[in-house]
Amino acid sequence: MKEERTEANQVIAVCGKGGVGKTTVSALLARLLAEENRGKVLVVDADPAVGLGMALNRFPENTVNDIRKEIISTVREHSTDSVDLAASVDYKMMEIVLDSGNLGFLSVGRPEEEGCYCQLNTLLREAIESLSSHFSLTLVDAEAGVEQVNRRVMRSVSHLLLVSDTTLKAVRVAESIRKVADDAVNYRKLGLIINRARGEEEAGRLASHTDLPLLGWVPEDDTVREYDAEARSFLDIPSCPALEAVRSHIMDAGFLAQ
Ligand SMILES: Nc1ncnc2c1ncn2[C@@H]1O[C@H](COP(=O)(O)OP(=O)(O)OP(=O)(O)O)[C@@H](O)[C@H]1O
Ligand SMILES: [Mg+2]
Repeated sequence: MKEERTEANQVIAVCGKGGVGKTTVSALLARLLAEENRGKVLVVDADPAVGLGMALNRFPENTVNDIRKEIISTVREHSTDSVDLAASVDYKMMEIVLDSGNLGFLSVGRPEEEGCYCQLNTLLREAIESLSSHFSLTLVDAEAGVEQVNRRVMRSVSHLLLVSDTTLKAVRVAESIRKVADDAVNYRKLGLIINRARGEEEAGRLASHTDLPLLGWVPEDDTVREYDAEARSFLDIPSCPALEAVRSHIMDAGFLAQ
């Protein structure tokens, strides 16, 4: 992987309630970032349910969870110097990034046992922090809800993109994520996207119930449904209303500008 260090590395995390469209918005953003000349972009599937990998048809051989398992067995078998171990973890993280064109893809993977999520989240935080300095922009599709924000996995995130569907319940979850993020994340910018809206009026009505800054709304879109149903890569999705909404409300509206 070619290293390109830039002054202001951006880390965008896409967060929100379960099922609201975090992975869809992340995949559409990845599709737009891939065609832009922004330098190398790292896309991170931070959800053990591996939805973003499916949406982008990216299936890395090794995941952050594989590194976790390797560390555990190394520590068990040898008394490894912790400094050596830390250096080799950084190197291993670079190695598991699946590279294609100007996109790198990292998957958190899924532990077999319930109790491992804590270790995995710690390692994921380290992965995001160490790898993002090698990319001009890092895009993270987070696990649903507030847990990863609360556990400071998103500590180094600069742009917090909250996604809601058209329900007040989802907006309230987005608000609670902001509340936790105010302490747990060093974000510079935060904005709300209302997904699957049927029109400006519906999105506006919902936005009037919250003080979260509204970036815009993304319509219910048949092309998105089709690509999802057929498991086609969103990196190939043609121009469609949802893609154009993400382009205009997130890319062109300057949300990603400093
Ligand atoms: N704008 C849209 N138009 C049509 N379908 C959509 C749209 N946004 C999301 N969907 C569909 O809604 C479902 C849930 O979306 P998605 O998987 O992106 O949500 P999520 O927030 O990532 O869910 P999870 O919390 O389970 O990770 C998917 O089947 C997806 O195709
Ligand atoms: Mg998802």
